Amino acid sequence: MQKCAIVTGSSSGLGLAMTGSLLDMGFTVFGGSRTGTDIEHDSFYDVELDVSSEESVIEFYETIKDFTDGIHLFVNNAGICEMSSINEMSSDQFQNSLLTNTVGMFHMFKYLEPFIVKKETHVVSILSTAAQYGYPNVSAYNASKFGALGFLQSIKKEWKDQHMRFTNLFPGAIDTPLWDKMGTSFSREKMLSVDEFMSVFDFIISAPHTIQFPEFTFLHREGFLE
Ligand SMILES: NC(=O)c1ccc[n+]([C@@H]2O[C@H](COP(=O)([O-])OP(=O)(O)OC[C@H]3O[C@@H](n4cnc5c(N)ncnc54)[C@H](OP(=O)(O)O)[C@@H]3O)[C@@H](O)[C@H]2O)c1
Repeated sequence: MQKCAIVTGSSSGLGLAMTGSLLDMGFTVFGGSRTGTDIEHDSFYDVELDVSSEESVIEFYETIKDFTDGIHLFVNNAGICEMSSINEMSSDQFQNSLLTNTVGMFHMFKYLEPFIVKKETHVVSILSTAAQYGYPNVSAYNASKFGALGFLQSIKKEWKDQHMRFTNLFPGAIDTPLWDKMGTSFSREKMLSVDEFMSVFDFIISAPHTIQFPEFTFLHREGFLE
């Protein structure tokens, strides 16, 4: 059976790199994002997706269902991060982080169930050290990632009869376009490179299919950005 993967947030940064690597490994990849990618590959399907919209998520799964019988790997990656003190952050901004990073994840899982392959499907979630530790001026991001972790721990138990693998990655800062949008002055030299992140991702994907990594934290030698 051809191995199929979904990667949310495939248009940029980590999602783009993970999509390329999975195609090299022989997966058929359904990439979902609002803006799409330039990837041209026989096994790549570039599908429009806004995880914050339940209708868009339903359409995403409607589109891919004709091309797959089951999803072996679900890379739960789409996310946004806005940096702002609580005083300067509007209620809409706060809600938008939760809508994309937490409710968006709920939408994706709600409609994933028919595609689960018992004892096979591996969910790899790109959380963050911000799902474990509070950082200043990213309260909405922190709340959304802690919420995402709670959601994942709950459905792992709810779906225990499926014998799926749930791997939660908690990377520290990585030098991706996410930081360009935030306009901060943190040194990129104290962040992991995308290649360094990919060395961990590729190791996890290549591990035997009986292994899951419930909590995998990794960060730059220089430690946390604060
Ligand atoms: N970079 C870091 O330091 C770091 C550290 C730890 C964890 N992470 C996590 O890693 C993940 C990827 O981040 P990145 O650094 O690769 O950032 P990025 O380069 O900004 O990429 C974010 C991706 O998420 C997609 N996305 C955002 N909102 C979406 C929506 N509503 N619907 C569908 N797709 C959406 C974007 O696609 P469109 O805009 O085309 O929709 C884009 O492909 C995020 O969950 C982030 O929290 C990042």
